[in-house]
Amino acid sequence: MPSPLPIGIFDSGVGGLSIMKEVRLRLPAEGLLYYADSAYCPYGSRPLSVIQGRAYAICDFLQSQGVKLIVVASNTTSVAALDQVRDYARVPVVGVEPAVKPASELTKNGRVGVLATVVTLAGNRFNNLVERFGNGVEIYTQPCPGLVEQIEAGSWEGPETEALLGNYLSRLLEHDVDTVVLGCTHYPFLRPLVEKMAGTGVKVIDTGEAVAQQVVRVLENNGLFTPESAPGWERFYTSGNPGKVGRVIRLLLQDPGLEVQQVNLDHQLC
Ligand code: DGL
Repeated sequence: MPSPLPIGIFDSGVGGLSIMKEVRLRLPAEGLLYYADSAYCPYGSRPLSVIQGRAYAICDFLQSQGVKLIVVASNTTSVAALDQVRDYARVPVVGVEPAVKPASELTKNGRVGVLATVVTLAGNRFNNLVERFGNGVEIYTQPCPGLVEQIEAGSWEGPETEALLGNYLSRLLEHDVDTVVLGCTHYPFLRPLVEKMAGTGVKVIDTGEAVAQQVVRVLENNGLFTPESAPGWERFYTSGNPGKVGRVIRLLLQDPGLEVQQVNLDHQLC
């Protein structure tokens, strides 16, 4: 049975929009519901129990809105809570992980760098990825405190962001990496800057496309595509200041008419 219900997508803030854009490209007729947990952003150095608590609360909210599938559009939340959300949700759940596998296949010199949050790089899920797919490849990791905040503030260029990113990137480039993985869904919004700073010899990859393809597969396997005649639509919610968050989302999606509604969600500590 086709389903006109929406797809729910969430992240700590605006980062998951990099996934949403890819989903929209492939699924123009679907309803997309986005929750930016901006009051709790960044997740990247928070205790796992808080990230898990937020994930349950957002999952409840999205399900109360009738979503047919949930995309955890956050590497950090996927590390901290993907298994729990999958057990908890009544609908299929798609997560995100840093593109270690494609990077290992792409590298020519066997040296890959990964930019991600502290929580992502410290998690078992990331270690397992490296063990499974990093065979014969040197993987260098770099946590990037402060970068997510710059993106949330709409500063995806400028001296402060360049200084912060330049510092993190140079620590990877010191190891002569020829491939850099953007292991946080916020970082694709810095891709032009990363590419400029890293130079033409370095490939920069993220997982937006792969996640969107997975969303298509899961809808297909479960018979959940929306009827084709339906026009696509989007709704945006945030736990933060809707004026501030709305300004950044409008800029990132280049949609001046877009509205963001505030919805505060309480969570239990796990
Ligand atoms: N964008 C998320 C990720 O992919 C969360 C970043 C954060 O809030 O620290 O990890």
